[in-house]
Amino acid sequence: MSERSSLERLILVVSVLVMTVLAGIIGAHAGEVPLPSVPKATGGSCVAPPDVMRRNHMSMLKHGRDLSVRQGERVEGGRLTGCINCHAVSDGKGGQVTVSSPQHFCRACHDYAAVKIDCFECHASRPEQAPKASDASPDTPSSALAALADYAKEVAR
Ligand code: HEC
Ligand code: HEC
Ligand code: HEC
Repeated sequence: MSERSSLERLILVVSVLVMTVLAGIIGAHAGEVPLPSVPKATGGSCVAPPDVMRRNHMSMLKHGRDLSVRQGERVEGGRLTGCINCHAVSDGKGGQVTVSSPQHFCRACHDYAAVKIDCFECHASRPEQAPKASDASPDTPSSALAALADYAKEVAR
């Protein structure tokens, strides 16, 4: 009887040890590698399934840009304004955050992965009433067209 309970005690001690070590490993990993928390989108479904977007959005956006800027074509789904509209994050004051906020959708992962993009120097980072020159449409005001012309000169250099 006493032999049996000491075996039980040994098993108990060993399993507590194993669990403590495991919890330590898991805990350390969770601490070292916090996953980025990506804000939820509004609107319908994305232009592609989320896992595809996670892997391929960079090349999709660049493809959209190349087609639009170099060949004068509009690519639905490759438009940055579309992304920004669905992935807008509320600022809690009735508006939406710009890319200057760490809560901005595009920064959720980029800050985490130390990715820097310059897109929002020209493109609007939140849905806007007055689009920037880079989000130009046929009825773009002349001030925006002037900015676009400046950009064209810069590219031609
Ligand atoms: C019509 C709305 C809509 C548009 C337009 C849209 N998305 Fe999405 N996107 C979503 C939804 C919904 C999800 C699924 C995750 C969620 O609910 O937040 C998603 C998921 C994603 C994810 C994965 C996020 C994660 O949780 O890992 C990325 C990256 C992404 N979108 C980037 C883009 C980019 C870049 C564009 C523009 C080319 C774009 N999206 C356009 C609605 C949209
Ligand atoms: C689910 C996480 C996630 C979200 C959300 C996300 N990105 Fe990214 N993005 C990444 C990662 C990770 C990389 C780096 C990929 C690599 O280096 O291979 C990246 C790279 C990029 C690049 C290429 C950068 C370079 O130097 O070549 C562009 C452009 C880009 N993202 C645009 C956007 C835009 C615009 C948004 C918001 C509409 C956005 N991303 C949202 C994860 C994300
Ligand atoms: C120096 C200014 C500038 C920068 C920086 C810039 N763009 Fe653009 N982008 C433009 C202009 C101008 C157009 C053309 C607008 C049009 O077609 O009406 C454009 C068009 C686009 C388009 C297609 C049209 C649309 O409405 O979305 C995409 C996609 C795009 N850019 C993505 C990007 C991405 C991604 C980055 C960052 C990696 C970026 N751009 C950086 C100026 C810029």
